[in-house]
Amino acid sequence: MDKIPFWEETYRNRDINTFPAEPNGTILEFEHLLRKDSVILEAGCGEGQNVRYLAKNGYSDIDAFDLSEAGISKLHWICEREGLHINAFTDDLAKFQFTKSYDLVMTFATLCFVEKDKWKHFIEDAKEHTKPNGIHIIHTFTNTVPASPDIAPFAVGLADEGEIKDLYSDWEVLQFKTYVFDDEHPGVPKHQHAVNKLVVRKTGIYREAGYARNQKESLCRFLEDGSIPAHNNRAENAIRPFVIGRKNWLFSQTAKGASASADMYSLVETAKANGLGVFDYLCWLFRQITAANHIYTDEFLESLMPWSEKAQENC
Ligand SMILES: C[S@@+](CC[C@H](N)C(=O)[O-])C[C@H]1O[C@@H](n2cnc3c(N)ncnc32)[C@H](O)[C@@H]1O
Repeated sequence: MDKIPFWEETYRNRDINTFPAEPNGTILEFEHLLRKDSVILEAGCGEGQNVRYLAKNGYSDIDAFDLSEAGISKLHWICEREGLHINAFTDDLAKFQFTKSYDLVMTFATLCFVEKDKWKHFIEDAKEHTKPNGIHIIHTFTNTVPASPDIAPFAVGLADEGEIKDLYSDWEVLQFKTYVFDDEHPGVPKHQHAVNKLVVRKTGIYREAGYARNQKESLCRFLEDGSIPAHNNRAENAIRPFVIGRKNWLFSQTAKGASASADMYSLVETAKANGLGVFDYLCWLFRQITAANHIYTDEFLESLMPWSEKAQENC
């Protein structure tokens, strides 16, 4: 029989706790950032000591999942006995599909049991499905010390030191700690884990900074060519009439119609920016398009652009 992780046995035993019954200390430390109506997700909740603590304290919108059916079944059993409302279900972090957005996403000592590309994908998805100012609390084991014998066969995705933090370069880091601790569970001898602990917040300004960083290459092009201005004032000025006139387009009947208006507008402003008479350009353009008889090669379309030699000669 294939080896199974140590927690499966104790998840099946309702008389003992596999992990400490108290919630993780980081939750207590950052609970002040939550509201009672915060929407909360725990991935890899096990027996659910964290979500149970939150449910007992009046948080009413909690989802929690774990791969282990025994873990989730124990959590259901405890919730029923204690009158707690938690939406707990079995699911695989490697395949998890977000269907809503959260104020808090947390995961403790779970990512390392999922292949690295999969847990990274989960984090990316979780980031997208986090509300503005929402937080993530992540404890993950790293490869700073070798995987202890109790988890070694299953720890397929140990993080490199600091790797988890790098995934949040566009969020505000509220806390990052790295440490090694001694651990012990029922039936498992003392061992060590290396941990990265991260608490991050989805803050607007960091999102903007992330955008600037992602677009760095385009934003710095003006440094390589003196004819490129360091600002985009011309583009801003070109779209100003459109922004001012925006209310007039409130009454587009369909999204496609609004999109067509925007395309037309872009064409008109680009013609102006290239020194063409707009009326002449549009007349010429429609004549060219009609004459092409539905054969629109890339080359042909390029020749119709307001900056093309042909357009410049004819309009
Ligand atoms: C070391 S235990 C930690 C449990 C809990 N997070 C805690 O801190 O007490 C790891 C947990 O991750 C769960 N797990 C492992 N692989 C998973 C996956 N692919 N999707 C969801 N949960 C997973 C296990 O079933 C187990 O409950």
